[in-house]
Amino acid sequence: MRMVDFIAAKRDGQEHTAAELHELITRLTADDLHDYQLSAWLMAVLWRGMTERETITLTEAMIHSGEVLDLHDLADWIVDKHSTGGVGDKTTLVVAPLVAAAGLPVVKMSGRGLGYTGGTLDKLEAIPGFNVNLDIDALRTTVQAHGIALAGQTAQLAPADGKLYALRDVTATVPSLPLIASSIMSKKIASGADAIALDVKVGRGAFMETLPEARALAELMMRIGQGLGKQVSALLADMSQPLGLAVGNALEVAEAVRTLAGCGPADLVEHCLVLSAEMLLLGKVAGTPTEARQRVEQLLSSGAGLDKFREWVAAQQGDPRVADDLTLLPSAPVISELVSSQDGYIQGIDAREVGLIAGALGAGRERKGEAVDPAVGIVLHHKAGEAVSRNQPLAAIHARKTEQADAAARRLDDAIRIGDERVAPPPTVYEVLCAPALTS
Ligand code: URA
Repeated sequence: MRMVDFIAAKRDGQEHTAAELHELITRLTADDLHDYQLSAWLMAVLWRGMTERETITLTEAMIHSGEVLDLHDLADWIVDKHSTGGVGDKTTLVVAPLVAAAGLPVVKMSGRGLGYTGGTLDKLEAIPGFNVNLDIDALRTTVQAHGIALAGQTAQLAPADGKLYALRDVTATVPSLPLIASSIMSKKIASGADAIALDVKVGRGAFMETLPEARALAELMMRIGQGLGKQVSALLADMSQPLGLAVGNALEVAEAVRTLAGCGPADLVEHCLVLSAEMLLLGKVAGTPTEARQRVEQLLSSGAGLDKFREWVAAQQGDPRVADDLTLLPSAPVISELVSSQDGYIQGIDAREVGLIAGALGAGRERKGEAVDPAVGIVLHHKAGEAVSRNQPLAAIHARKTEQADAAARRLDDAIRIGDERVAPPPTVYEVLCAPALTS
């Protein structure tokens, strides 16, 4: 295949053959392609799109560009979850132990935060001693012993996606539905999932800012899953404001622990219950949505989820006492309160801006490989729709230095919009799109 012809075909809106796409990924994996030609092709895809058949083939080729995990010695049916990322999204820290407590093994590969979005690995590393660097064998033995294990993505899984994503990142070609969908699904399927619960975020703090865009991404990923013999459900969940109240690594761990102890913020609790129930359904440990919901509610209220969290932390060399004593988590030397300058109702809290402010405090990173400060971040006291009065605290800013807290407060004041009008809070979950086998 001549690369120039391949690029021209996509430029002119033609459909690639399966053989061409497989050759592309084989050569990409073998470093046998020029970045300038790949970049031109990526831009052509961004403009022209891909058919469903092309997208499924691309996903399949990327899955087989590296190792594909087979975890069926651990369970007959492996269920995973994936969030498209957001601000204050500590869902995995709650959902993973809840689902594992229901007897469904959880083997998860997670990522780190970048830009305004947080990452599960950074959050877990805020727990003293927690080790996310498990190789595949350690992952297996940990799941066998405890029913739960989480590690960073290994370079051996879907390496073609890693290469393509690095190029997309610097050529402004990330926001293409088929490229996003194939990237996410290739990694999940290469990680050994038979069924996947997708948590597709929508709003200012998400990739997809509108509900139709988020639905289109979710439906495409579901069709890819179906095309490759996987069961996929998807939640369309709000990310116009941060999820829960805490944004920042240790602060989010603390909120996850409180949630597992039965005292979480309402939106986070609801989101985690919906997602956990969906995983139990996908994992066939519950037969109906009602049964799944009752089961996860019971695991939360009985403390079984928190017990599993404690066991999980200890299994990965973390200090399990954090589940009972949040003062063992790293804390920031400066904590200052932002107060409201007026009476009114919170109209909205710009999730992206809150993520950027937390990042500027040190909770996030601009570039891959940079260190994060586990202690810093923001804890909101109110969410959209709530009434506030003048001088009432709106949020606590946890910072290393007073000047950083002051700068954050000025930005946060703009990010929390207050007005006279009473507004309804956004729904936590807009829709649940069920896997076909679960709806029949
Ligand atoms: N997350 C991924 O893994 N890939 C994308 O392309 C976008 C988000």
